[in-house]
Amino acid sequence: LRLVVLYGGVSAEHDVSRVTAAHVLAAADTEKYVLVPVGIDKNGTWHRNDAAAAALAAGEELPNSLPVEGPEVDPLSVIRDAQRVEGPGQLTVVLPLLHGPHGEDGTVQGMLELFKVPYVGCGVLSSALCMDKAMAKEVAARAGIPQCDWLTFRDGVDDARTVVSEAVDRLGLPVFVKPANMGSSVGVTRATTREELDEAINVALHYDDVVVIEEAVVGREIEVGVLGNAAPDTTLPGEIKPGSDFYDYEDKYVTGNAELMIPALLSDEAIAQVRELAADAFVALRCAGMARVDFFYEEDGRGWLLNEINTIPGFTPASMYPKMWEASGIAYPDLIDRLVTLALD
Ligand code: DAL
Ligand code: MG
Repeated sequence: LRLVVLYGGVSAEHDVSRVTAAHVLAAADTEKYVLVPVGIDKNGTWHRNDAAAAALAAGEELPNSLPVEGPEVDPLSVIRDAQRVEGPGQLTVVLPLLHGPHGEDGTVQGMLELFKVPYVGCGVLSSALCMDKAMAKEVAARAGIPQCDWLTFRDGVDDARTVVSEAVDRLGLPVFVKPANMGSSVGVTRATTREELDEAINVALHYDDVVVIEEAVVGREIEVGVLGNAAPDTTLPGEIKPGSDFYDYEDKYVTGNAELMIPALLSDEAIAQVRELAADAFVALRCAGMARVDFFYEEDGRGWLLNEINTIPGFTPASMYPKMWEASGIAYPDLIDRLVTLALD
């Protein structure tokens, strides 16, 4: 089986994706897969990374962050190659390891659908929904999944003053301000004053024209890995103890100050609840293949609150998704096999 791994990409999570790809490729079984790494540079040009493919085939180690290099290739030629059946039983599956807009948001998935190429993970609708924090919240709310209170601001549609006043009155301060479409906490600010809120909206607008303003929840940060299609399996929950004000980009990938606890110390009842909610959220948002569902836990308050769903979770050494599966009995290489099998389902 040929496994075409797409990584890099034009989003602000380009660097994270390169680390994710290096670790997934290193874990994939080269006896089972012909690995074809295809890197997308920050301008959107695709490169077939033949050097990395050769290194993998020779059993050599990859760098921690896979460079986007190699001959330029036309995206459609990569897709057409994937369509081609090269020999008896020789199939191609695409593994999009692109975080953020233009990769995790249904765009690449749509292209693969058009050409009937099997790919790992969520389809067009669920990718787009989960990428957009504003729309994901609407759908999750409709499905009765508990969440924190929030407001959205859309540039050119909503009046900023009105939204800011409503946010301060209804959500109080501090609040979290996030671009609707982004990941890894890029563009996210914790605003403690009205002035900071104005500024935070401007920061978020740099990434998207829709901004989500969320109530600041005082609770534990708990994540659950989900794997499957209509009746998915879930991991034991893991907990993040942020090393700074919140679990921000620096904390995630630069300083490594956040502490990860797998499994999280929770009662059996709380564990059962969060696993069920994670599967419910996955199904409500029509996810397929994989997702990491992130929650807040208000122990003395509302209990579980959905934070967000990541359809292409990080697979970096600091990432929860593969670690939670390992702790739940599925080793990294087996996780890749399961994902590929689900893609062909
Ligand atoms: N968006 C990052 C990669 C994550 O969810 O892990
Ligand atoms: Mg995210």
